[in-house]
Amino acid sequence: MSREEGTVFDRAYWEERYRHSGGSGRGPNPQLVAEVGELPPGTALDAGCGEGADARWLAERGWRVTAVDIAAAALQRAREQDHTGRVDWVRADLTTWTPAAAGQHFDLVCASYVHPAGGHEGLLRRLAAAVAPGGTLLVFGHAPAESSPHAPGSHVTPEELAAGLDPERWDVLVAEVRSRPVVGHDGREVMFRDAVLRARRRP
Ligand SMILES: C[S@@+](CC[C@H](N)C(=O)[O-])C[C@H]1O[C@@H](n2cnc3c(N)ncnc32)[C@H](O)[C@@H]1O
Repeated sequence: MSREEGTVFDRAYWEERYRHSGGSGRGPNPQLVAEVGELPPGTALDAGCGEGADARWLAERGWRVTAVDIAAAALQRAREQDHTGRVDWVRADLTTWTPAAAGQHFDLVCASYVHPAGGHEGLLRRLAAAVAPGGTLLVFGHAPAESSPHAPGSHVTPEELAAGLDPERWDVLVAEVRSRPVVGHDGREVMFRDAVLRARRRP
């Protein structure tokens, strides 16, 4: 388990958070929308899908999606809002669940703001292994910043996201920090700094 600044990002933490959140009501992540826009639909894995806004957005655009999360409470909300019939909602722990081991590979693997207990490194290795040849890996994280509203244990840099990719097999197309305004629950606007990784597995 990772314990930083008192926050433990384990299953109990996420179940509790979703049980009390009342639904985020958020649309798809604008970073995902910007990056996926040009890709032809195929198979996608949304790792750490939460309440499923990204998975549903992909499904509405013709992707066949496997959406995985550790929190049953999140998946229940995600399922209730899904009218596409193109998403398989799976409850699994991404620190041990390995789609590639079951022979599953995806044209797109995305993970937005997932910071599992145990850190990013192992998770990224498993996600990268699940990308089909010629496919795309898209990872978004909370970049460190002095005024970051996120727990320090959730921070990651683009360099850390890209570090585990074998340069012989991967072309890193984007590894950078991008800022975007987000309106919080109290109605005030805050700037989020996203660490963005986009990489293409060579065919
Ligand atoms: C900050 S939320 C982001 C949710 C969604 N991707 C989004 O952008 O709204 C992180 C998500 O990762 C999930 N998660 C964290 N650790 C996980 C793990 N080990 N296995 C599967 N899901 C995990 C949490 O339950 C939570 O839904």
